[in-house]
Amino acid sequence: MKTFIVAAMSADGFIAKNRDEASTSWTSKADKKHFIALTKKAGVIVMGAKTYETFGAQPLAGRRNIIYSLDVEYEGVETTTEPPEQLLLRLEREGVSEVAICGGASIYTLFLDNNLVDKLYLTVEGVIFGQGLNLLSKNLPRQLSLVSLNKIGDNTVLLEYDLIK
Ligand SMILES: NC(=O)c1ccc[n+]([C@@H]2O[C@H](COP(=O)([O-])OP(=O)(O)OC[C@H]3O[C@@H](n4cnc5c(N)ncnc54)[C@H](OP(=O)(O)O)[C@@H]3O)[C@@H](O)[C@H]2O)c1
Repeated sequence: MKTFIVAAMSADGFIAKNRDEASTSWTSKADKKHFIALTKKAGVIVMGAKTYETFGAQPLAGRRNIIYSLDVEYEGVETTTEPPEQLLLRLEREGVSEVAICGGASIYTLFLDNNLVDKLYLTVEGVIFGQGLNLLSKNLPRQLSLVSLNKIGDNTVLLEYDLIK
């Protein structure tokens, strides 16, 4: 089982200006294309309820959508409250080989904190926010190994990192 975080960041390191805004409102076409290709290849996407709500609580097509929520059962997707290692073990038993962790900050933090992430795909966009939401919501130092660095758009860079375990 392979797991990766996929996130877009402003050039000053934020994943959102505020919690209610969809990241698609400021990310480039190149990032959207990359996100779709990567998550469709994985086949399974995991995200928090807050992120899911930012794009109207509509399942992303062509992928198995798994939404973390304690409160809401969304139509047409799977909702879970499982501890992340339990979720991944269950998915592995079901034959899943790759899972995309799609945010937001609380879900990135949940999986990284439990050492359940193999890789990070970080898109850096040519925007700055000044303030906003960090990728992670707690103190979580980790070492990363740079696998690749690609300019995927006029103002967009894609970084691929492996977690050093
Ligand atoms: N730039 C990017 O690539 C990117 C990607 C994704 C998201 N974002 C941004 O991130 C922001 C949202 O991030 P966020 O951290 O505020 O919210 P989030 O992680 O998307 O969702 C938080 C919600 O997930 C549920 N949850 C979290 N931990 C859980 C657990 N252990 N068990 C069960 N449910 C759990 C809870 O839902 P309930 O309250 O329903 O129980 C919680 O309110 C948005 O602004 C979004 O645009 C950016």
